[in-house]
Amino acid sequence: MLKNLDGTRFRHVEVFPSVDSTQTMLVTEGGPDGRVIVADHQTAGRGRAGREWLDVPGAMLMFSSLLRGIAPDRASRVALAGGVAVARAVESVGGVGAGLKWPNDVRIDRKKVCGMIGELAPSGDYVVLGIGVNVGHAHGELPDELGATSIRLASGTAPRRDDLCVAILRELDELVATEDWMDEYRRRCETIGSEVRVEMADAKVEGTATGVRDDGALLVDGWAVVAGDVIHVRDA
Ligand code: BTN
Repeated sequence: MLKNLDGTRFRHVEVFPSVDSTQTMLVTEGGPDGRVIVADHQTAGRGRAGREWLDVPGAMLMFSSLLRGIAPDRASRVALAGGVAVARAVESVGGVGAGLKWPNDVRIDRKKVCGMIGELAPSGDYVVLGIGVNVGHAHGELPDELGATSIRLASGTAPRRDDLCVAILRELDELVATEDWMDEYRRRCETIGSEVRVEMADAKVEGTATGVRDDGALLVDGWAVVAGDVIHVRDA
């Protein structure tokens, strides 16, 4: 499985029916640059800010990828690049338009279709980017309160998860090697121009999101908010 990754850094792909978390595996085990772990189901999936990440087995594309050669202060940009990669792939493979909610939720019709978590290994030697895309969920398989959708719900058809995974990895391979995608990120980012409430461990910021800096920080009425500090961002 996962053909057509020749010429990319992603040449070490492992696929499992069930793991605790693809993210935990790569963060703790490490491995070569371009190692990818894909799973059909996770028993201890992790979301951002310490939240759990539940899945409907077989309906989601879930994988983590290990990237070396990223300076620790560039790690947060990798997660933004991941958002652009998924948005492009959702459009090319899923056939529906996709936007971004800062920092890196991918949305269709302003509903979340993909969540992402980027982590620097404790050694600082590599970054692990974990991606979970709602692909084949039918009506009733995503709780209403999540405000989420799937590619199938939005377009009427669920693409093959292998095809989507390859398209994301190919886009990611290109994006992490270049610098000139920030304008595309900003164009796709639906948070810019919105009234937002940003909740951090020790502070809350409310106001208009006016932009995203090149280092990935969200500008809210002059305040620079860093993704790693954020617990929730709500469109007010
Ligand atoms: C979020 O929106 O909170 C981020 C969700 C990230 C989920 C993916 S699924 C694959 C990888 N393994 C995990 O345990 N989490 C990420």
